[in-house]
Amino acid sequence: MIREEGVCVKIPASTANLGPGFDTLGMALDLYAWLELKPASETVFRLYGDHLDGLPSDKSNLIYQVAQSVFKRAGVKVPELEISMYSDIPLTRGLGSSASAIVGALYAANLLIGEPLTKDELFDMATALENHPDNVGASLYGGIIAAVWDGTHATALKIQPPAELLTLVAIPDFQLSTSLARKALPEAFRMQDVVFNVSHASLLTAALASGRLDLISSAMKDRIHQPYRAQLVPGMARILEEAPSHGALGVALSGAGPTLLALVEEDSSRQAELEGFLTKVLAEEGISAKTLWLRPCTEGVVELAMLNNVSFMKRIKGE
Ligand code: HSE
Repeated sequence: MIREEGVCVKIPASTANLGPGFDTLGMALDLYAWLELKPASETVFRLYGDHLDGLPSDKSNLIYQVAQSVFKRAGVKVPELEISMYSDIPLTRGLGSSASAIVGALYAANLLIGEPLTKDELFDMATALENHPDNVGASLYGGIIAAVWDGTHATALKIQPPAELLTLVAIPDFQLSTSLARKALPEAFRMQDVVFNVSHASLLTAALASGRLDLISSAMKDRIHQPYRAQLVPGMARILEEAPSHGALGVALSGAGPTLLALVEEDSSRQAELEGFLTKVLAEEGISAKTLWLRPCTEGVVELAMLNNVSFMKRIKGE
């Protein structure tokens, strides 16, 4: 059954790693992308907003390709699509923009043909495309996820984020590709560093699951990716070291960077101090950055009802 009227989905951004949970922990954030797919007689793209500038608007587009992979797997043919997308998620900054596009395309394509695939199958497909499950898992399921990937199957367990948890992100005005940020990492690690990360990621997961915000500052420490990536983000080393003494519960590079993410208690009286500190340290390195206060998003990708007679952009402005 093909839904001729089309489908519309809303996908959250995400942060990955949360410090020690390299390639395993992820958290959805309340910053979104919207995607509408409709069967059409000829493929057309309507890409709105600054964050989608320069993306291909032909069949090489990731959304088109990913949607076709769902149709192929389900044995259904929908060769031509009208694709409309708007995103508030900045590209290549460590906030899961590519994961949100992949999850949105998989989820919307599956809805369009009557949901033959399960959400868990979509998770496997998304992880195979991204190569790690943390961002896609968060965008798909929402909340905080702990995930593993064996090269074929991804498994994730969702944790409801503590209600009083807020995040502050500082998004530098330069892009850093995940592949470049992964090239900065060594092939092998010392045993002490592996044990350090396993124990900190475990404590962080347990602290988040049980709402023990007081343990975040001891748990949110990493030795296997951030020290190597620090050279790629001037000011990062100082922010990781000093943000906790300016009101952060914990601080990390968001995904592969360059965005920095601080976890903050909702009723902290030091929010302005922390924001000023992050901005100042980056500015001292000649980097201008945009700061945003974001809440964890407890839901992953969701379907929105198609509204007749309301244009795609009008309905998003109404959100
Ligand atoms: N876990 C991945 C990394 C996330 O840190 O490389 C990339 O978005």
